[in-house]
Amino acid sequence: MTTPVRPRSLSGIKPTGQPHWGNYFGMIQPALKLADDHDAMYFIADLHALTSVRDREAMRRDSLGIAATMLAAGLDPQQTILWRQSDVPEVLELSWLLGCVTSLGLLERAHSVKDARAKQKDLNLGTYSYPVLMAADILAFDSDVVPVGKDQLQHLEMARDMATYFNVAFMGHKAGGTVDERAPWDGHSLKRPTALIQEQTAIVPGLDGQKMSKSYDNYISIFATPKELKKAVMAIVTDAKTLEDPKDPDTCNVFALYKLFTTKDQQAELAAKYRAGNFGYGHAKLALLEVAEAHFGPRRVRYQELMANPAELEAILTDGARRARNLARPVLARVREAVGLPAHPYAEFNP
Ligand code: ADP
Ligand code: TRP
Repeated sequence: MTTPVRPRSLSGIKPTGQPHWGNYFGMIQPALKLADDHDAMYFIADLHALTSVRDREAMRRDSLGIAATMLAAGLDPQQTILWRQSDVPEVLELSWLLGCVTSLGLLERAHSVKDARAKQKDLNLGTYSYPVLMAADILAFDSDVVPVGKDQLQHLEMARDMATYFNVAFMGHKAGGTVDERAPWDGHSLKRPTALIQEQTAIVPGLDGQKMSKSYDNYISIFATPKELKKAVMAIVTDAKTLEDPKDPDTCNVFALYKLFTTKDQQAELAAKYRAGNFGYGHAKLALLEVAEAHFGPRRVRYQELMANPAELEAILTDGARRARNLARPVLARVREAVGLPAHPYAEFNP
């Protein structure tokens, strides 16, 4: 009996600060679920973060923090490859080669570049070539699917374009023709990945009812201490109904957050209490606190253990880098051969 080949999914997460409930339910949880039916790969995009981060302590702390978060949230490092982008130099080499077939015109159209220009930020070359490095991240591992939020879709399309430019320039593909998406991959050229748009999980509201976001300062960190958690939950904005008044669960922020942690039955039970009256928002907040703590409490303990033991984290990331490099090496060998570079892997050439 042959084991069925599972598609390879790959995604990168920039290490920028502690994730909040919106990131967790909107991104981390759905991403981890992918490992059920994919060979899933995740990396910490530290090189991408360097286009803006200028604080080395924050860089180190947040890189390990994201790794610890993914592990505490349930990533199984035996099954899923987890590594730090900067530990796999093959990606940088591929990035250069892709840059040599990518026009400035394409890069000018990137939202990330347009944003940087609009804000009149000093546009560094790293920001400009951000989509090229991202394409290399993806193409270096023959990835089949890339789970992305809508904001990253354009970058993924650019990665597909860059694969095509490369395949036309060096792999004998026909120029100007449309790519037949149904044709099987030839096993040699750069594999064009498909986007897996994360099914639109409901937007998680913040303390004030707007979308939870770092930029609105209305968020709850997933590993907030019990004291911080209580303070945040008690600060969730509700309307002015009195304890006795019947209440509408469907317009209540507390209820919307409660739904993230609970079954339909639990939700129906709490909804009935809302509608019956004599049940205050304070009571609802206590119910939310209880389910949130039950969910995040054990994960917080695991997160803190990992953060207190960087050697264990480093060992997991190093093993991930080793496995990732084993996948990237044959891709780089094909590519080096195709462009006419010497066969030895650049990253291992040590004259
Ligand atoms: P922030 O708005 O806090 O800066 P990001 O834009 O960095 O968050 O989002 C990172 C990921 O988390 C994205 O994939 C995004 O879809 C998801 N996400 C962020 N906020 C929410 C939210 N309130 N509800 C659902 N998903 C969210
Ligand atoms: N650009 C992505 C973001 O800002 C992170 C990222 C880097 C990525 N390389 C990637 C995502 C490769 C998917 C695949 O969120």
